Amino acid sequence: MSREDVALGLDRARARTLELTAFDDRELTTQHSPLMSPLVWDLAHIGQQEELWLLRGGADAAPSLLPPGVEQLYNAFEHPRAERVTLPLLPPAEARAFLTEIRGRVLDGLDRAGDDLFAPLMVEQHEQQHVETMLATHQLRTGDPILGPGSELPPGRLLPEDEWVLVPAGPFVLGVDATDEPAALDNERPAHVVDLPSFRIGRVPVTNAQWQRFVDDGGYRESRWWSGRGWAHRLEAGLERPLFWTPDGARRRFGIVEAVPPDEPVQHICFFEAEAYAAWAGARLPTEQEWEKACTWDPRLGARRRWPWGTSAPDSRVANVGGAALRPAPVGAYPAGASAYGVEQLIGDVWEWTSSDFRPWPGFAPMIYRDYSAPFFGGDYKVLRGGSWAVDGAAIRPSFRNWDHPIRRQIFSGVRLARDADV
Ligand SMILES: [Fe+2]
Repeated sequence: MSREDVALGLDRARARTLELTAFDDRELTTQHSPLMSPLVWDLAHIGQQEELWLLRGGADAAPSLLPPGVEQLYNAFEHPRAERVTLPLLPPAEARAFLTEIRGRVLDGLDRAGDDLFAPLMVEQHEQQHVETMLATHQLRTGDPILGPGSELPPGRLLPEDEWVLVPAGPFVLGVDATDEPAALDNERPAHVVDLPSFRIGRVPVTNAQWQRFVDDGGYRESRWWSGRGWAHRLEAGLERPLFWTPDGARRRFGIVEAVPPDEPVQHICFFEAEAYAAWAGARLPTEQEWEKACTWDPRLGARRRWPWGTSAPDSRVANVGGAALRPAPVGAYPAGASAYGVEQLIGDVWEWTSSDFRPWPGFAPMIYRDYSAPFFGGDYKVLRGGSWAVDGAAIRPSFRNWDHPIRRQIFSGVRLARDADV
């Protein structure tokens, strides 16, 4: 990873940020949903974090280019999303000028940077994560479409229903070290050996057609499929189908109303729905350890692969990432992206809920952004793996761990099933 690569990555993230915020001020300052910030908050927050980590060395006390009192408006821990619209935020033009000024100084400094490029890689991923957050905001926005239908995707291919892949028992290497994955965030490290019993995992994620059968079979009306907490939430929130599906079998996607594509992985489901679906299907969710083994382990070589398919970075031949499609690809679209065990579409398409709580790997040590992971360990979160169609290739890895509350479904979340091998 060279300084030029890092600069290119920062540029790519910025191009996406500007594309999603190239709208009039009203669009950017409106709160489209209480679940999300107005887009103009994300915009300036991206610059505030970049200044903090790359120009001020993480020191809150060091001077900021922002006027006094303004920086704290962009502290995500201090201001819940629902309240951000009420803050005296920078107007869009000032937010853009701030971003440009910070980026200019960062690129100047990059020329003088030493060999440790972790901080800029972390900041690049932070911006890409907010790009995905801004896409979720766009999806919640009502009104005429402003992003278009999305780019072409490869066709799916016919797969046997319920196709399971066996992952035999045995040890594998879970997590990564900075030497192998210089961009890995603190919660992905360190690499360590874990021994798992054999299990089966779905070759592809659960599709909309499969989910429709769960709906038609009364899955949302029968408490027996749901956990106690899940059922209480289903009643309270009135869940009847995935978010953005309409009662007449259509869905709303970035302002476009269209038929639900049967062979696309289901998305916009919460953990409790995923868990109920799995019970109805006679299966369970994978643990994140199982997910990562199915994704990375090469049993023939007894070694970890960098990506499911090998060593090359994700591209349109092997995975649907980068956001241009604005939707998941149909199942079977990426046979060349299969893991050593033959599991497909692990990277991109939809975040996959696992049964795992968010906890540190043994030997965890916080990175310079000390509060990125640690405050969330042991909280009411479930881990999601693999990234969605909205992630950039620079902000996803087989070791990447996302976490969210079990009720969240405005995110691009889906599910892949697992089973004990002897079932
Ligand atoms: Fe952030």
